[in-house]
Amino acid sequence: MKMNRKSVLRAAALGMSLSLALGTGSGLAEQETSPWWKKTVAYEIYVKSFKDSNGDGIGDLRGILSELDYLQEMNVGAVWLTPCYASPQADNGYDVADYYAIDPVYGTMEDMEELIGEAAKRGIRIVMDLVFNHTSRENAWFLESKASRDGEKSDWYIWADPREDGSAPNNWRSIFGGSAWEYVESRGQYYLHTFLPEQPDLNWENPEVRAALTDVARFWLDKGVGGFRMDAVTYIKKPAGFPDGVPDAKDGTAGIHGMTANTEGILDFLREFKANVRENADIFTVGEANGVPAEDLPLWVGPDGVFDMIFEFGHVLVDLPDEMNWCNVRPWTLPEWKAFFSKSQETTGSTGGWVPVFLENHDQPRSVSHFLPQDADRVLGAKALAVLLMTLRGTPFIMQGEELGFVNVAWESIDAYNDVSTKNHYAFALGEGYSAEEALKGVHRFARDSARTPMQWDDSPQAGFTSGTPWMPVYDDFKVYNAKSEAADGNSVLNTYRALARLRQEHEELTEGSYLEQMHDHGQIFAFERETQEAKALVLINLSTAPAAYDASMTEGAERIFGTLPESGQGVLQPLEAVVYEFR
Ligand code: GLC
Ligand code: CA
Repeated sequence: MKMNRKSVLRAAALGMSLSLALGTGSGLAEQETSPWWKKTVAYEIYVKSFKDSNGDGIGDLRGILSELDYLQEMNVGAVWLTPCYASPQADNGYDVADYYAIDPVYGTMEDMEELIGEAAKRGIRIVMDLVFNHTSRENAWFLESKASRDGEKSDWYIWADPREDGSAPNNWRSIFGGSAWEYVESRGQYYLHTFLPEQPDLNWENPEVRAALTDVARFWLDKGVGGFRMDAVTYIKKPAGFPDGVPDAKDGTAGIHGMTANTEGILDFLREFKANVRENADIFTVGEANGVPAEDLPLWVGPDGVFDMIFEFGHVLVDLPDEMNWCNVRPWTLPEWKAFFSKSQETTGSTGGWVPVFLENHDQPRSVSHFLPQDADRVLGAKALAVLLMTLRGTPFIMQGEELGFVNVAWESIDAYNDVSTKNHYAFALGEGYSAEEALKGVHRFARDSARTPMQWDDSPQAGFTSGTPWMPVYDDFKVYNAKSEAADGNSVLNTYRALARLRQEHEELTEGSYLEQMHDHGQIFAFERETQEAKALVLINLSTAPAAYDASMTEGAERIFGTLPESGQGVLQPLEAVVYEFR
């Protein structure tokens, strides 16, 4: 294969390995190989809750080091670590005080280097979470910025004068509730915070800020990380002049989502970031990008996009029309839900893009509780969702515990919850006139804590997570649902994930193949094909708790290569049954 410099860069942008593009790879270079991250399985570790090595009740890097074999057995090739930088932990690390330091509670820089090295020995790359929309209020940059209006960093954050009556510059409400502005005496001005007051927004309009953030990313690239997840990245650009939003809450405030997400011009910032950080590095980038419409996906991912993948949230918000109001739950149908996946699958598929497939993360409820009927069998349901997660086109992202079939916690008092946003949502519901009981129901449904309870390793006290007192209670189902007992049970959710990871490796159409939805209007079955020139897989998943019929001729002549239940004949799926057929 002959390539000039331009096509080499193009190939690199397309994600081909550079050695292949340059012809230094194998002699069989005619065949285009996908980059490693398209074939891999990614796993999100909530560092605070994964494994505690020193008995202080808080997960840490040495804890992760001790469980790398567990990840390897699931064929995980990329581990996204939630932020473990120095932080006062107002939002569990999403408030970064120093991007160049590991928080002592999680370990040291040497531990991190060791983790990157030991993971690499097992074919696992570490993915860092870049929290670049905002910093902590205790970050040295912010301390300098707030000190005066004419210091070197005075323009590094978003400052605005009060209105004439001294009130906030406009009516924007933070995503976590309350005004998005906080007053600072020393400057006589307000600063903007999309999230908590402890998380002031950086001013990306300032080239010095962008350069400083590029330096941070390069520092971590030099450490050998395999990729970046870009936190809250659709918020980095704010509309000029900070116009008031149309009030959508009783107090006359307006949610910040509509106002500041995906503002015109944001792609210029991100193109610059891609050129300075992503280009020529063998990594992937994934943006947390709510509010990007499917039509715009080619601008965000693929050869001309700014990221390799972005997390979209349509499917996880299917039941939540107003993100602030957890009591307003919207009923939804399976065809509606399928449409979210299919739209992004089809748009990215036809434009050379790629998606991160996910059903959970550390901000979302557990998928078994979220997407299945209330009477669903937990284990069978978790397996059905596993098949979906692992066979859609894209890189699957497993949230720690998802592979064990974890469900939401339902604590009896709001005081039992830790997450600041959960507490704010609860207060918001009371303010809107819901009863305490209703507000708590919303918490049981959507609290971020459900995804953050300590990992359950075995049936010993505290589930083997810590020898001390865990920072957050271990869920009381740990005697049954834990890694050790599920590893020993051939029929467990964990072993289903392991088998699906092998299946992806053995059947290339499941990683490389195109996506084509089938039976869109079927109210119980999620069905789609994955096809390469050599083979075609047909995936059939019954997400309902009743038997579901389909046209038996669809699977004629195919081999059944995977199933969550013993074979039961063609033309009908048992409740929550999932199967994969292959045509050659
Ligand atoms: C992202 C994170 C979330 C965090 C927020 C503010 O949405 O995933 O956990 O609270 O950004 O950084
Ligand atoms: Ca610890």
